[in-house]
This record gives sequence, C-alpha cells and structure tokens, in this order.
Amino acid sequence: MTTRPPSAFARSSALSANSPASRLSPAVTPEVLVAIDHVDFFYGATQALNDICLQVEAKRVTAFIGPSGCGKSTLLRCLNRMNDLIEGTRLSRGTIKIHGVDIYQRDVDVIELRKRVGMVFQKSNPFPKSIYENITYGLLLHGRHEKKHLDEIVERSLRGAALWDEVKDRLHTSGLGLSGGQQQRLCIARAIAVEPEVILMDEPCSALDPVATAKVEELIQDLRSRYTIIIVTHNMQQAARCSDRTAFFYLGKLVEYADTRDIFTNPTNPQTEAYVSGRFG
Ligand SMILES: Nc1ncnc2c1ncn2[C@@H]1O[C@H](COP(=O)(O)OP(=O)(O)O)[C@@H](O)[C@H]1O
Ligand SMILES: [Mg+2]
Repeated sequence: MTTRPPSAFARSSALSANSPASRLSPAVTPEVLVAIDHVDFFYGATQALNDICLQVEAKRVTAFIGPSGCGKSTLLRCLNRMNDLIEGTRLSRGTIKIHGVDIYQRDVDVIELRKRVGMVFQKSNPFPKSIYENITYGLLLHGRHEKKHLDEIVERSLRGAALWDEVKDRLHTSGLGLSGGQQQRLCIARAIAVEPEVILMDEPCSALDPVATAKVEELIQDLRSRYTIIIVTHNMQQAARCSDRTAFFYLGKLVEYADTRDIFTNPTNPQTEAYVSGRFG
C-alpha cells in the first residue's frame, strides 16, 4: 500500500495533522484515527445523534452495536459525509476529525474524503458492469487509465477481498452474476481498490447465509492489519468474533465503549448488560 500524506483530503494546510497545534493536542494520540467529539446530528427536526464522543483507533476493528434506530448507520455515514447527500440533515454540534483534520470544514474535498473512507453497504450493490469494471470504476474516476496498472489493481483488490480464485476466469462477466456472498466481497474489493484508510461496513452480512457470512468475517480478519474497519452489526456474536473495540448505542446516545471482551463479559453499564445478554433489542 502506498503511503499518503495524512491530510490529503484537506485543501488547507492549516488543517494538517502534522501542524504543531495538532501534535500538541492531547486529544489526538498517534493511535486515534477518527476522533468524534460531542456530535449532535439531525434529520430535519429529528435528532438522531446526541452528544457522541468516541475515538476510533487505527488498524483495529471497531463494532457499533445497538437496537434498530439507535443511530449506528447515521454515525457511520457521518464519517465520510454520506449524510450530506440526504436533504435536511445537519451535524449541528461537535467535530469529527480524521488524522486531526476536521472533516466538516468547508474546504475539505469530500470526494477525496470518501476515497479515503470507503463504504460497504448492507445490501451488496455491484454496478451492472463486469467484475473487472466494478473494480476499475473508482480508479477511472480518479484518472488512472493504463491497462497494465488497472490489471494489477484488479488482481490485487480481488485477492485482498479473497475473491480472486473464484472469479479470475470470468473477470469480464457481469458482477450481478455472482452469488450474494461473492457480490459482497466484490463490493469490498471495489472499496479497497482505491486504497482507503478506513472501511465502513454497515451490516455487511445481514443479507448473507452463514457460509458467506463466515467468509466475510474471515476477510475482515485479513484486512484488519492494513485498514481501520468500523462495522455496524446487530449480530452480537459477529461483533464479539470480529472486533477489537465495541461501542453500544441506545436512542441516539453512546452508552458504553470499551474493549469488545469487556463489553460482552463485563460491561459497566446496566443497559449494555441488558442488551448483550439479549434482554432487549
Ligand atoms: N434518511 C432519514 N431521514 C429521516 N430520518 C432518518 C433517516 N435515516 C435514519 N433516520 C432516523 O434516525 C434515527 C437513527 O437511524 P439509523 O442511524 O438508521 O439507526 P440504526 O442504524 O441504528 O438502525 C432513527 O430514528 C431513524 O428513523
Ligand atoms: Mg442501520
């Protein structure tokens, strides 16, 4: 993986994570990649997130858990400003910093941000194009056209998503011809093709059967050394199996955030305890 300047999506050098101010900031330690600080978020008049403070560590898997409607997807979409695409939304208070760069500053390049913070959705959504074109699409958007280079990236991305052996002989057939589990791994391959730093996954296995789910979970384990992964799941076994840190949300608030083992075996908050032991949700 190539190394990039940490604040490539910030147009203003004043926002650089290497600036003396951010080096001195006690809130930004080298291990924290995403720093969420007192965030409130609204859909119109409806408040979906309430005073969220959470620090996501680099090169680890962080799980967001909690009952339906508690704000997990909303928070995930705040991290690459996907909510900007929904009319009437606003982050009304607080900051979200990546490498110390406030991603809601007006001069942030949102396209670059979304390249650095990729996303995989609940329902796999390959483009109605060939497997090969699904991978190269984002690269072409970023202006790389040389065929040899594209071939290399296609292979590397598909290998990275543990799909290469299954599709190497059919790269120019439609991505929609793959099974559900393969399609989801194709979407992961597409996400990693542009070399993101963070991969957001919103219930990536909820439409998959147990065998395909196991493959995606195995893949997450492979990817964790290279990427910072945040996964939303309502499957608590999955959170327990896959993640290093777990954040439990309830009614738009972060109730507890700790090492996954502690959340599942020794939670400090009674609401967390009730949720992880299956008493509500
Ligand atoms: N596009 C939207 N427009 C209006 N309200 C929304 C939208 N998406 C989510 N919400 C509301 O925001 C709250 C949090 O939803 P969401 O983040 O999807 O929760 P979760 O992912 O935990 O199930 C819910 O009350 C939901 O109804
Ligand atoms: Mg959701």
